[in-house]
Amino acid sequence: MKPQTEQQLSFIPGITGLPHELARFPRFRYMGSKFRLLPWIHETLAGIGFETATDAFSGSGVVSYLLKAMGKQVLANDTLAFPSVLTSATVANNATRLNADDLQFVLASKARSQSERFIRSTYEGIFYTPGELSSLDDLWSGIRQLESPFKRAVAMAALLRSAIKRQPRGLFTVSDPTRYQDGRRDLQLNILEHFVEQVAIYNGAVFSNGLRNSATCKDVFEVQPGSDLVYMDPPYVPLADDNCYIKRYHFLEGLACYWEGKEVMMNTKVRKIAKPFTPFSYRHTALEAFDRLFRHFAESVQVLSYSSNAFPDLETLRSLMKRYKKSVDVLEKTHRYHFGTHAAAKRNVVSEYLIIGS
Ligand SMILES: C[S@@+](CC[C@H](N)C(=O)[O-])C[C@H]1O[C@@H](n2cnc3c(N)ncnc32)[C@H](O)[C@@H]1O
Repeated sequence: MKPQTEQQLSFIPGITGLPHELARFPRFRYMGSKFRLLPWIHETLAGIGFETATDAFSGSGVVSYLLKAMGKQVLANDTLAFPSVLTSATVANNATRLNADDLQFVLASKARSQSERFIRSTYEGIFYTPGELSSLDDLWSGIRQLESPFKRAVAMAALLRSAIKRQPRGLFTVSDPTRYQDGRRDLQLNILEHFVEQVAIYNGAVFSNGLRNSATCKDVFEVQPGSDLVYMDPPYVPLADDNCYIKRYHFLEGLACYWEGKEVMMNTKVRKIAKPFTPFSYRHTALEAFDRLFRHFAESVQVLSYSSNAFPDLETLRSLMKRYKKSVDVLEKTHRYHFGTHAAAKRNVVSEYLIIGS
């Protein structure tokens, strides 16, 4: 079978009609990503008049990238560190790329102290090969010496995407590094080979829309309101325990900041980090959180992504938004998610909603 190239992976059915920059977006395998819904989201947003936009829960960053490509001034935000690295590199960054000398410098760097060998000393036997763990330490050592924050962001985004591609199923929930070796190209390349490829891909994704865009890593309620439009795609109250972002991606979250300020739970098999609290993930706090969210962004046109298998239900959300917005319209589309077990496949076919308050 012919290996899939990066270019082929970038295309999705129905991409026609999207701004051409989207074909260069480095797709990131992220739970709840709206990548496949982009043509619909684009069509919907294109019918609304606005100049500035906040993507309040940016995740993989694909909706922020779409908004940027639509010529809007974008503020991308997520409470986790690694999503904001992705949007720093692709949304806030209008022009900075890693040149050949930068790449050589990073590739030639070596961890300079025991504290710069944290990844190998913590994750040996858990993820990747020992040599690859050392590569991650070495690359990080080089990246932290790059002077330009946007160069660091491009390099870190490349490192994050290398790490997730090289990890079986793109998840960090299982500790056996030899499982799931299915011969896919992503599992055959080592971290260094991935990194070289990903730097070229992130360099290729950099473009300017002529506006000052930004990327932040904050709780949504700390985000300055006031954009003309806010796109909100919060996490769902989980139906099962495996819905947690930190459980799936703790390694990427640690990697994004070299575990600085993170507490590694050494008693867990996969050396997880503590899960940050978000009120959107619990039945007893979600209602109040949505009310507060709509109140926080009361001045903006609000676009909320939501789905039929989530809590609270559509009618509740509509009436909560109605407290702050004169008119609330609901658009619906069916969508199949690719996460979850085979047994869960049925509930992975859901109606997706865009709830629009203006
Ligand atoms: C469904 S995902 C967003 C997916 C994104 N729209 C995409 O297309 O990739 C939800 C995101 O909300 C973030 N999040 C959860 N609680 C948050 C909070 N209180 N403030 C800001 N972001 C939060 C999570 O880290 C996660 O990345």
